[in-house]
Amino acid sequence: MGFVLPAELATRLRAARSIGVITGAGISAESGIPTYRGKGGIYDDPEQGDRTIEALSAPTLRTDPDRAWQAIAKIAGAASGAQPNAAHHALVEIERKVERFVLLTQNVDGFHAAAGTRNLIDIHGDTFKLLCMKCGRRGDLSREPDIEPCIQTIVATGKAPRCECGGTIRPDVVFFGEMLPEAKVQRLHDEFYHRVPDVVISVGTSNMFPYIVQPVLIAAQQGRLTVEINPEETEISGYVAYHLKAKAGEALTAIAAAL
Ligand code: APR
Repeated sequence: MGFVLPAELATRLRAARSIGVITGAGISAESGIPTYRGKGGIYDDPEQGDRTIEALSAPTLRTDPDRAWQAIAKIAGAASGAQPNAAHHALVEIERKVERFVLLTQNVDGFHAAAGTRNLIDIHGDTFKLLCMKCGRRGDLSREPDIEPCIQTIVATGKAPRCECGGTIRPDVVFFGEMLPEAKVQRLHDEFYHRVPDVVISVGTSNMFPYIVQPVLIAAQQGRLTVEINPEETEISGYVAYHLKAKAGEALTAIAAAL
């Protein structure tokens, strides 16, 4: 018997005409991708965590792109050998079943797009999308070893990929110390502040950032249904109507089935 939703929650979900979902690294944990924080997270070892955050910061990308890419290749490498899991697929099913759906993700693994989510705000970008910092040319980071630029070459050489123009290529993700992309912030405001969804579900995030916490608090303040899916307690656990201490896969599968 899989995870069982509280009956009242199932009833309230079925009555919803709009659902907004916010995801973090925890939704990809069941794909085998390490989280940043929480049990077994990359930052578990503070020393390694600080080094990773420093490597993934804007100044490092400018002054030492090879070091930045070694950290990126670790994250992208873990994702390139993995697949979206039941949680990602359950969200695609939920999107099909409600009138209005929006998914705000912090993840850069591209799994929500790969699973088929349509109304997606990937606020931190996608590590497999590339951009030349000199000529602006865009491209894809290949998971295949014989299509350059590819993960395997970067991991083997520890070198940042270079553009034909000689410029350094960066992943189209937000580095620490960089601004969030204006257009995506605008969409976040439109979808979660100006038109608050009937239900806001936060899944697999430690809720480190205000733009991730706010949409849940605003929904709670406006009497909307708020749900957190996380085996651990976080900043928002005391504010949501339901904190499902469960894994993303089982809880979201149960929600999709209940709609
Ligand atoms: N199902 C649901 N939640 C899970 C699961 C699971 N199977 N496994 C772990 N979690 C939870 C952990 O308890 C933790 O609270 O997922 C959360 C992951 O938190 P983080 O690793 O901090 O990930 P996230 O919140 O997405 O980090 C936000 O910080 O480092 C930056 O840019 C990076 O996007 C990232 C941001």
